[in-house]
Amino acid sequence: MLAIRLTAEPDRLDVLALPVRPGNDDTSAEPVPTGAPLPTGVADEAAALVAPARVTGRPGQVHTQVRPGGTPARLLLLGVGEADEAAWRAAGAGLARAAQDETHVTVALPTEVSPEAVRGLVEGLLLGSYRFRLGDDRDAPTLTGVDLAVTDPDAYAQAVATARTTAEMTRLARDLTNTPSSIKNPEWFAAQVTDAAADLPGLRVRVREPEQLAAEGFGGILAVGGGSASGPRLVEMDWHPADARTHVVLVGKGITFDTGGISIKPVPAMKLMRKDMAGAAAVVAATLGAAALRLPVRITTLTPLAENMVSGSAFRPGDVIRHYGGLTSETTNSDAEGRLVLADVLAYAVQELKPDLLIDLATLTGANAVALGTRIGALYSDNDQLAADLLAAIDTAGESAWRMPLAADYVEHLGSDVADLHSAPTQGAGSVLAALYLREFTGELRQQWLHIDMSAPSWCDRDDAELTRGATGWGVRGLLRWLATLS
Ligand code: BES
Ligand code: MN
Ligand code: ZN
Repeated sequence: MLAIRLTAEPDRLDVLALPVRPGNDDTSAEPVPTGAPLPTGVADEAAALVAPARVTGRPGQVHTQVRPGGTPARLLLLGVGEADEAAWRAAGAGLARAAQDETHVTVALPTEVSPEAVRGLVEGLLLGSYRFRLGDDRDAPTLTGVDLAVTDPDAYAQAVATARTTAEMTRLARDLTNTPSSIKNPEWFAAQVTDAAADLPGLRVRVREPEQLAAEGFGGILAVGGGSASGPRLVEMDWHPADARTHVVLVGKGITFDTGGISIKPVPAMKLMRKDMAGAAAVVAATLGAAALRLPVRITTLTPLAENMVSGSAFRPGDVIRHYGGLTSETTNSDAEGRLVLADVLAYAVQELKPDLLIDLATLTGANAVALGTRIGALYSDNDQLAADLLAAIDTAGESAWRMPLAADYVEHLGSDVADLHSAPTQGAGSVLAALYLREFTGELRQQWLHIDMSAPSWCDRDDAELTRGATGWGVRGLLRWLATLS
């Protein structure tokens, strides 16, 4: 990860980035006055360059001016748009890409830049420079250090630290999600969580193996994991600071590969199913982040981990599964496996943990993308306040979600002749029905529950601002923002 340093006395000016904002309607873009002193003449030169270099100040735009023999030797005009947190995040990502072949860059920040803007810049730099490679990365970017020149470094230390933790955890979620499923089985994922938590005092981790899951009645996890040579796991993390007033349970779907099971997926649909644990990755990373930031909120995190495979021991369409707590599901389609593992864990949280709030994230349905496209999570809750709070946190964090209805007229489709519930009805809107099914397991916590179907935004197929091609780590940033408001 890039080393980012705040300084009042920038000592490396060989590559210098200067912010540029769009002008008013009739004027062209203009450099933003900076706090730290610049080498003589550089500010005037930047102002003179804007028009001929067609610099617009759009967030993330970078114009590189080469100055042979000069200091700086390269001057980067960095578009910062409206200069709010989101624009600076895009600027940071644009800079990380444009400067990837440098070794070091100094950014001269505007006089009295806000801590939020600095947070955006740091997140953008650290997320836009993310890459996932297995083995040697021969053409890895050379950029290793960025200095942020400001008049009062102390005023931004907190913003930089929070941004760093947020980005580090988002990068961890991306790594976990990008990892091929030949490596990433349930046992491996559980070991990653245990390792990551070992550095964080006060964060406990418990891993349940198949025997324990059987003894306690986690029938959904066992059914879905039953077809794989790599047995299922349930990871439970607990962050319990003494000053916590609120107890949140976070649940994340952790299917380490989804073939669809006996109801097998066709080739194109199966291609990316190593990402079917992105919900688990997001809640784990957010919990690690909360512990690293020592947020004063109690968090119990549950990730049911299973590989949904096709084999002689796989569960069948039409089987009836008995979930934790006793509700039963008729499993008409083994590809609707996510809800079966989540059902166990929601019921467990309600019965045994009795939290104040219950949140789950899951790559649950392809219908998420049908309804909302490729970047927006589908958020469901009967609790207006909770929904509004999460939506606001997700939005400021630079992610997006849209609230969807828990439509009452679809509930009848969940009925089964042979079990309490039908897990995959064929009528109704897919993402909504999956949410309605999960709600049946929330018992007394129905009003305290919120679900996000994040199948679509968990992945992107091209670099875009702070997102890089592949896993996005969606949910980590929004959850961390929200958890920080509970303190
Ligand atoms: N993991 C998939 C959902 C998914 C699809 C995630 C595309 C990311 C991209 C999930 O387990 C699934 O297969 N859902 C089915 C549900 C259906 C069988 C009711 C779906 O969406 O088709
Ligand atoms: Mn599936
Ligand atoms: Zn799945």
